[in-house]
Amino acid sequence: MIESPPYRLIDPDSIPSPSLLVFRDLVAANLDAMIRLAGGVDRLRPHAKTHKSADVVRMALARGIVKHKCATIAEAEMLAEAGAADVLVAYPMVGPNAERFVALSAAFPATTFRAVVDAPEHAKALSAAAAKLDRPVPTLIDLDVGMGRTGIAPGDAAASLYAELDRLPGLVPDGLHAYDGHLTAADLGERTAAARAVQETVSAFRDRLAAAGLPVPRIVMGGTPTFPIHGSFDAPGVECSPGTVVYHDYNYRTRYPDLPFTPAALLLTRVVSRPRAGRLCLDLGHKAVAADTPPPGLRAWLPALPDAKVVGHSEEHLVLDVDDVGRFPIGTPLLAIPAHVCPTVALHRRALVVENGRVVDEWETTARDRRLKF
Ligand SMILES: Cc1ncc(COP(=O)(O)O)c(C=O)c1O
Repeated sequence: MIESPPYRLIDPDSIPSPSLLVFRDLVAANLDAMIRLAGGVDRLRPHAKTHKSADVVRMALARGIVKHKCATIAEAEMLAEAGAADVLVAYPMVGPNAERFVALSAAFPATTFRAVVDAPEHAKALSAAAAKLDRPVPTLIDLDVGMGRTGIAPGDAAASLYAELDRLPGLVPDGLHAYDGHLTAADLGERTAAARAVQETVSAFRDRLAAAGLPVPRIVMGGTPTFPIHGSFDAPGVECSPGTVVYHDYNYRTRYPDLPFTPAALLLTRVVSRPRAGRLCLDLGHKAVAADTPPPGLRAWLPALPDAKVVGHSEEHLVLDVDDVGRFPIGTPLLAIPAHVCPTVALHRRALVVENGRVVDEWETTARDRRLKF
C-alpha cells in the first residue's frame, strides 16, 4: 500500500515500473476547476498536447467542451476521432503538413478544423492545398505578443496578412491566436498586470481589423498561468487555451500556488540499486520522465523523498542522494510527480487509470505518435 494523500495505491506490487498512473478523480476535478476559472465551457479551448488521449477528450466532451486546440496533425486526428466538433491546430503548417491538414479536414466533415498562419508563405500554401476542399479553412493569425517563438507582431504586416486571408481562395479569416507562454511571473499581481497588457494589445489590434471591415470571431489566449486572468477578460470571442491543467505537474504546482489544480498523472518507480552509502538508483531514466531542464534540474518530486538530490540521470536510471536510504530497500515502490508532465506523458504509450486506489483501466496516449492515418 502507498498512502500519500491525495494519492493511494492499494496494491503497488502488481504494477510494473516505470509506469504512468493517472488518478481519474483528480483529472475530473482539474477539468471542473478549469471550466469554472475560464468562466464556462464557451470560453474554453483546451490544448490536447498534455494528455494526447481520446479518453480525456471524452471527459471534456461530456462536460460540454466543444472547442479544442492542439499542435500536431496527429492530435487533431485523435480529437476528431474522439468526436470533437471544433479543432484548432495552433501551429503553422509547413511542408507536407498543409496537404495533411486538408486531407484530415476532408475525412472528418463533421469537424471544423481551424489553422493558424504568421506569414504569407503559410497562407499561400494553405490556400493552394485548400483547393481540394469543398469548404474554406477558417484561418487565424498567430500573433507574437512577447514570447518571440512563432507569430507576427500585431502591426501593419499582421493587418495586411489578415486582409490577405480574406482574399485568398479557400481561406476565411477566423480571428487571432495570442499565446503568452512568456508570462511566467510567480506573483499573481505581476502576472495579472502582464496579462492585462497583452489583452490591451490584442484588443487594439482586433479593433483595427474590425474598423477595416474584417470579421474577428475569436481570440484564443493563454495557457495555465494566465488563462484565469483571460477568462475574466470582457471581450467578445475570447477562448482560453490551457493544456497542462488537466494533469498538472510539480513545476506548475510549486510556481503557481494560486492555481487550484492537483497533479493527476504520476509515475510509479522502484528502487533498483543502492550502489553506495546515501545513494539510491530508481528506474526513472529519461525514457520514463522528461529531462527537458539541464542537469541538475528536477525531473520529478517524490513525496516519500522530498529532499532527495538528483546526482545522475541516464536512459533508464535516476540516481539520487538521500539521507536515510535504510528506509528504502531494493524494490521499494515510490510515487513520483513529474516536474514537466507534458513531455513525460508522451514517453508512455499508455497510462494506467487509478480509481479508489486500484488500477481500473488503461488510457492510450494515442497522439504521442507523430503520424496516425494522415
Ligand atoms: C500555443 C500554446 N497554447 C497553449 C498552451 C498551453 O499552455 P499550458 O501548458 O501552460 O497550459 C501551450 C503550451 O505549450 C502552447 O504552446
